[in-house]
Amino acid sequence: MNTYQVAVLAGDGIGPEVMHEALRVLSAVAQKYGFSVKCVEKLVGGAGIDACGKALPADTLEACEASDAILFGSVGGPKWESLPPDERPERGALLPLRAYFGLYANLRPGVCLPELTASSPLKDSLIAGGFDILCVRELTGGMYFGEPKFYGERDGELVGLDTMIYHRHEVERIGHLAFRAARSRSCRLCSVDKANVLSASVLWRSVMTELAAQYPDVQLSHMYVDNAAMQLVRNPGQFDVIVTENTFGDILTDEMAMICGSLGMLPSASLCTRNGGKTFGLYEPSGGSAPDIAGQGIANPIAQILSMGMMLRYSLGQPRAADAVDKAVRAVIAAGFRTRDLATGAPGERLIGTASMGDAVLDALT
Ligand code: IPM
Ligand code: MG
Repeated sequence: MNTYQVAVLAGDGIGPEVMHEALRVLSAVAQKYGFSVKCVEKLVGGAGIDACGKALPADTLEACEASDAILFGSVGGPKWESLPPDERPERGALLPLRAYFGLYANLRPGVCLPELTASSPLKDSLIAGGFDILCVRELTGGMYFGEPKFYGERDGELVGLDTMIYHRHEVERIGHLAFRAARSRSCRLCSVDKANVLSASVLWRSVMTELAAQYPDVQLSHMYVDNAAMQLVRNPGQFDVIVTENTFGDILTDEMAMICGSLGMLPSASLCTRNGGKTFGLYEPSGGSAPDIAGQGIANPIAQILSMGMMLRYSLGQPRAADAVDKAVRAVIAAGFRTRDLATGAPGERLIGTASMGDAVLDALT
């Protein structure tokens, strides 16, 4: 029997409650599809700061290092907001994990299911039938990590400096991944940049254009990021796969999440290649720790469950189990089950809490 090890980092806020549901679903699919998973639970984020003063404690990193994948909940909350920016849970845990493992490819699916179009702030006429976008965001380059970086006094004045830099190899590797992703879907790839202004984007566009020759079956288009922000709310259905650099991806994926209806539905995967070609990754919901609703049993666990499903697909090599998780979630939505974030009050909806949503997914699996 295949046995995998997963580092489980539930974190803060709603993290632990939604993680609990994802782990129940994980053990059910493992049993059903004949593999076993050893979950090693470790502290991260505010929970790590409270326990040992560090958002990413050394033994948490060691457990990640020794695992096939990281299943991450969410970090942060008002309690830690007064810390210096670098030490806050979000930056102190996520950015170091991305940098340490070189998790350069962030896949963020933006799926608006046909049953959930009413939860989207976009008019029904714009999104009838729902839509399905995949954003591939470069995650370890650009302004987030570019050097020099500086904050302080210079010539008697306070300055802040970040550097947007891309190297050819960074654009190539994310480009290949995006072209392959497009190939597995409807063969349309839109590369988003700001090549009318930024040199890093001139490089980005020229490398993407060059790579296109190796993927003649994929139709590549280019779009400026300001236009892309507009097109996403004007006609999201025009997009299939979007590939973009780190900062643009950060902004566009929040916009994409919003128009999908609820952050509580959206998973994500941050990937790299490790240990002789295996896909290692950190899998986390796109939404945050939602401290305002933590501990009330009303958070939507679906994003965490779908993130676990992405882990089955990409890092554990269990595509059938991953398909079963996706299918179960769709069935639960089609049956009318709704956590509070999804409810519109329409007839046929059944308003339920976190644990009941977990139960519903488990029922749909079996
Ligand atoms: C995200 C988040 C992070 C980012 C923060 C928490 C550092 O916004 O994953 O999109 O900016 O990448
Ligand atoms: Mg973000």
